[in-house]
Amino acid sequence: MISFNEKTNTFRLDTPDSTYAICISRGWIGHSYYGKKVGDDDLTYLTRCNDFFGAYTPVFREKHTFLDFFPQELPTEGLGDFRESALAISNSENRNGVELKYVSHKIFDGANPIEGLPAVFADKSECKTLEITTFDAVLGVEVVLVYTVFEKINAIVRHTRIINKKGTAPVFIKKALSACIDMDNQNFDVLTLHGSWARERHIERHPVHLGKQGVVSMRGETSHQEHCFMAILDKNADENNGNVYGFNFIYSGNFVADAQLNQFNNLRVVMGINSENFCWKLNPGETFNTPQAVLTFSDKGLNKMSQTFHDLYREHLIRSEYKKQMRPILINNWEATYFDFNTEKLIDIARKAKENGIEMLVMDDGWFGKRDNDRSGLGDWTPNEKKLGCSIGELGKEIRDLGLRFGIWFEPETISEDSDLFRAHPGWAVQVPGREPSLCRYELLLDMSRADVQEYLISIISKVLSESGATYLKWDFNRNLCDKYTASLRAERQGEFAHRFVLGTYRVLENLLTRFPELLIEGCSSGGARFDYGMLYYTPQIWTSDDTDPIERLSIQYGTSFFYPTNTMGAHVSASPNHQTGRATPIYTRAAVAMSGTFGYELDPNKLSEEEKESVREEIQLFDRLNPLIREGDYFRLTGAKEDCVVWEVVSKDGAQALITAVYTQVHPNQMVHYVRPQGLLPEQEYEISLIDNGQTEKLSGQEKALFLTEKTMTGKALQARGIYVPNAAGDYSAWQILLTARY
Ligand code: DGJ
Repeated sequence: MISFNEKTNTFRLDTPDSTYAICISRGWIGHSYYGKKVGDDDLTYLTRCNDFFGAYTPVFREKHTFLDFFPQELPTEGLGDFRESALAISNSENRNGVELKYVSHKIFDGANPIEGLPAVFADKSECKTLEITTFDAVLGVEVVLVYTVFEKINAIVRHTRIINKKGTAPVFIKKALSACIDMDNQNFDVLTLHGSWARERHIERHPVHLGKQGVVSMRGETSHQEHCFMAILDKNADENNGNVYGFNFIYSGNFVADAQLNQFNNLRVVMGINSENFCWKLNPGETFNTPQAVLTFSDKGLNKMSQTFHDLYREHLIRSEYKKQMRPILINNWEATYFDFNTEKLIDIARKAKENGIEMLVMDDGWFGKRDNDRSGLGDWTPNEKKLGCSIGELGKEIRDLGLRFGIWFEPETISEDSDLFRAHPGWAVQVPGREPSLCRYELLLDMSRADVQEYLISIISKVLSESGATYLKWDFNRNLCDKYTASLRAERQGEFAHRFVLGTYRVLENLLTRFPELLIEGCSSGGARFDYGMLYYTPQIWTSDDTDPIERLSIQYGTSFFYPTNTMGAHVSASPNHQTGRATPIYTRAAVAMSGTFGYELDPNKLSEEEKESVREEIQLFDRLNPLIREGDYFRLTGAKEDCVVWEVVSKDGAQALITAVYTQVHPNQMVHYVRPQGLLPEQEYEISLIDNGQTEKLSGQEKALFLTEKTMTGKALQARGIYVPNAAGDYSAWQILLTARY
């Protein structure tokens, strides 16, 4: 719901539980409120734009003083607002300063796509969009502030459109962030996500302090290290209580998310493309779009914030037909064989996998060019028939004849120095002339800003997909973008390169999906270094981490769950002891953790014991049965990720079924009982409590057997108030899955 009050010059953007208010003050676009839903009150006083400066100066503030304080929707650089700005433009004579004044606005049903960028979409009845047009008369530049507001989801999606409208010369955009929120600091905390390879998205929470705090990436991708997400929350907010503001970004390149607390205890949060090394030349008549930032407000803690992100993504960002479909349960040969495989080995894995109920074989790195290790071959996407022992078409057919789908790994944006592609097109590799290129994993990047590179990738990948009959593509990206130089742009445009790299990747993805609408793409970047809303638009699932150890995955999937739903998180059962940590864990625990993701296997099924094979068959049947619940339900974190017993829950939208998963990282017998209080149940409803048989139920105590194995029922009210406990008799790294089913 969006409305405009002509008397107060105020826009109200209402979601089911939040209000966002924008006011026009002397032509400036001010931000007056974002938070819990309020009535029709006039909130313009919150901007304090009519305050007198002090007892001795009863006049309207001078521009500098006014801007130093005024809460702005899109603060600009150079005029007197010295907080972090969201827009900086200079003219062709390098004069700085942008002064945006209101021109007009329009409100319409639905949301418009953004050319070349991933963006939310919705039916006209599901959202409304507000566009506020502003203009800088000196630059001749128009800036449109675009807000899409969802009717049923507590999300507001923002971005800007910058047009060199009336200029006669180019202007240079030096900074173009997508969103800014100014608010008074109510003793807030800030929560961000940090990590490393194989240790992605661990949470960090601390009180907001004076000055700046935030997360950035200059790696050309979202990165393992910092994530384009920020939550600002009440000091006492927890999973189910308190006010939480969540910010996320629909983009896959360099980003910044900053919170800045200033002299007046005002907190400014900004999010957008990182402006370091960024400079975009905008010729007269040209338009530049910033990517969308997603804003959400929850007055019921972090779980509700996460559920909003999950709903928005599932309903309004997955653009493929996999939006509502079950994803195939796959087996990937990477941890089973690494580079050492041929058709015979793959078929052996595929045959055994099929017997156990697996639906797809994914052939990982090593099938093309000269590629027996990571030192060569990238870019030569011609199947190595000598290594495979047959053509890719024959291999694909053999897999399909077994009754499985076939998937193939690519790393499209990279090139090895030792490759035919590099020998033929050395200029396609990203490097700075005269400087030694920075290799990483022995690879260079392809210059994705070049149309010829994009065309090469579209045509070579299409050829392999057509010949092999593959319906799944694992899109890997194993290094960061540095040596930022492209021969295809003149000196004054080099600052466009990092963004053009991302746009080039999006263009290739867009083209492939148009040609192969049934293609399911899984994103990947040395595990989860490019897990973001931008990629998810094209790749509905992303490999969450190269760390497949279920205990490490507790923290990784926990952090990821703050804003990404389970059906986006690539998660596999791998061999034990685990290849990354050396830790031995039971197969049922590995499965319980992987089931809170897309679920698949990454091991050699021929090496499993008979007991483990039986376990795999049961796990697959269980996942098939629970797939709709896990894929579409509301996700609740019931504990933190560093507890002795880590617990989470998925509840169906109608509250009729809930799956609770609990994993022991450490058992302390005779010391404490781990009570679990499920959420999201129907209070008056009777629920049958059952424990999924993980082969350990004979270890339960008599009391536990009475609770879990006798079809006992309890009301939602009692379960939520007092909870049930998690059995601990099976030891460290044991896992339990408890199913609550409404008895109508
Ligand atoms: C990194 C990925 O994260 C792995 O799953 C695997 O595909 C390797 N690359 C292959 O080189």
